[in-house]
Amino acid sequence: MTTTYAKKHVNLLNIIENKKINTQYFILKVQAPHDISNLLPGQFVNILVADTRHAFLRRPISIYDIHPQERTIDLLIQVVGEGTHLLSKLKAGEQVDILYPLGKSFSLLESGKIALLVGGGVGIAPLLFLAKKLYRKGVDVHILLGGKGSNNIIETKNFEKYGKVYIATEDGSQGERGLLTQHSILRKSDFDMIYSCGPDAMMRAVANIAAKHTIECEVSLENMMACGIGSCLCCVTPTKSGHQCVCSDGPVFNTKTLEWNK
Ligand SMILES: Cc1cc2nc3c(=O)[nH]c(=O)nc-3n(C[C@H](O)[C@H](O)[C@H](O)COP(=O)(O)OP(=O)(O)OC[C@H]3O[C@@H](n4cnc5c(N)ncnc54)[C@H](O)[C@@H]3O)c2cc1C
Ligand code: FES
Repeated sequence: MTTTYAKKHVNLLNIIENKKINTQYFILKVQAPHDISNLLPGQFVNILVADTRHAFLRRPISIYDIHPQERTIDLLIQVVGEGTHLLSKLKAGEQVDILYPLGKSFSLLESGKIALLVGGGVGIAPLLFLAKKLYRKGVDVHILLGGKGSNNIIETKNFEKYGKVYIATEDGSQGERGLLTQHSILRKSDFDMIYSCGPDAMMRAVANIAAKHTIECEVSLENMMACGIGSCLCCVTPTKSGHQCVCSDGPVFNTKTLEWNK
């Protein structure tokens, strides 16, 4: 089935709320001037960080959730450098320059299928909207969230609305102790699809586990990006059909198509 993607916009969007989750994470809620109901899970936005010479490239951020009636988009952001630090300071009532929606979405399983969503750290960002869509289609949704410690395990209540949540922390402060890829749920082999986003090494390990159980696997890659629309070629990744732009051919790829070792 061919997916029809929404037209791209560059707009100054009104900030409705900037909610601090803890010292590392915040959720920026922005309002679009038009219908956003055709945005899809896995797509992302490219945000211009104002008032700095150090972060002149737009910052790519996944669509965490959408509320079509209010025309609002939620963006879950981790503060890692100057750009995200400046975004964390934005206030309700201000505006932010956003290019959206970008990239291709996850494929959505049909009713009755079983999905496992695996998110490491801020890699959970594209998975809430996916969990919501799958749940509403009648898919049995399981969600594995992982991080170094309980400070990195956020938004579990939101995920619990759409599926059964499992947790792994490296320091054992929440859920099973160990790497997310060592969690016991990954020993189960009856999933129809594993969807994953997080650090590169984690996604590769998840893809290997999926391949061992012959489960389809889609990952959302987070390569460095600039234009976000397939023009500058700075985000390419090797695939079985040659180098592809993560921003426009992805960021979601079926792991069978990737040539991760090249
Ligand atoms: C498709 C996609 C979706 C993403 N979704 C989210 C999300 O939902 N929430 C979130 O918190 N983060 C997300 N990221 C990562 C986010 O874009 C970076 O953390 C952010 O750009 C860092 O900017 P900075 O100025 O704070 O940090 P910097 O000081 O510029 O860099 C810190 C680190 O961030 C990474 N980075 C910097 N610039 C980029 C860039 N233009 N593209 C990709 N990585 C970069 C680099 O690894 C760098 O080491 C996503 C990245 C991609 C490619
Ligand atoms: S970021 Fe420019 S081509 Fe992907």
